Amino acid sequence: MNKPHTVIECRNLSKHFIDANRKINVFDGLNLRVHAGETMAIMGASGSGKSTLLHLLGGLDVPTTGEVHVCDHDMAQLNNKKRGLVRNKHLGFVYQFHHLLPEFSALENVMMPLLIARESKALARQKAREILNQVGLGERLSHRPGQLSGGERQRAAIARALVTNPDCILADEPTGNLDEDTAMSVMNLFIELNKQHQTALIVVTHDRQVAALMQTTYRLKHGDLQPLSN
Ligand SMILES: Nc1ncnc2c1ncn2[C@@H]1O[C@H](COP(=O)(O)OP(=O)(O)O)[C@@H](O)[C@H]1O
Ligand SMILES: [Mg+2]
Repeated sequence: MNKPHTVIECRNLSKHFIDANRKINVFDGLNLRVHAGETMAIMGASGSGKSTLLHLLGGLDVPTTGEVHVCDHDMAQLNNKKRGLVRNKHLGFVYQFHHLLPEFSALENVMMPLLIARESKALARQKAREILNQVGLGERLSHRPGQLSGGERQRAAIARALVTNPDCILADEPTGNLDEDTAMSVMNLFIELNKQHQTALIVVTHDRQVAALMQTTYRLKHGDLQPLSN
């Protein structure tokens, strides 16, 4: 069988910040390859660079040196608009705080990425409804985020990330704000959808139990990724 294709690859990545005249080297020569459908946890102490790494992988920030390829697009070679298109087409994002728009219903929030990608309203509504059903929110379509529980909001955020059928989801502490039981049920749902849709999943987490659900786990330490056994 052919090797599964690579959805994200970064080579020799370094990122430096200048902060109050002090240079902070977050990474220096980091390499990573993510295959289609792969699930990966990234752990590491606070400040070790986990969020920075996800920003670079998602093209939300640019590396100081090195390359990030998302589905064969060299992100640094693209202008902002094209980078945005690659992001919209190939990637989904989930954060610790749901970032749903408060004035819109769950259905409208999940339709949003499709409307941005210029799908018709009718098709966007149909796809959003389907994925909201899959995450168990079929009875909550017209609820606004404020009318949903914490776990429901995260499930809506997952639905919004998945609705465009991305190749990879980047999730930054997606269960960091949930109690343990809700966290595990949200993660199990994530894994289930990852299998159904063959979406690769990179999850930054502090939670060993969450990390244990992933195929591979890395610890980010001193600017490098070290494999941990699950
Ligand atoms: N925009 C920025 N300007 C300066 N320093 C930054 C910036 N973003 C992150 N950093 C620094 O980079 C390091 C890694 O941050 P971050 O990626 O947020 O860590 P983590 O998500 O692992 O907690 C920290 O030392 C942080 O202070
Ligand atoms: Mg962080």
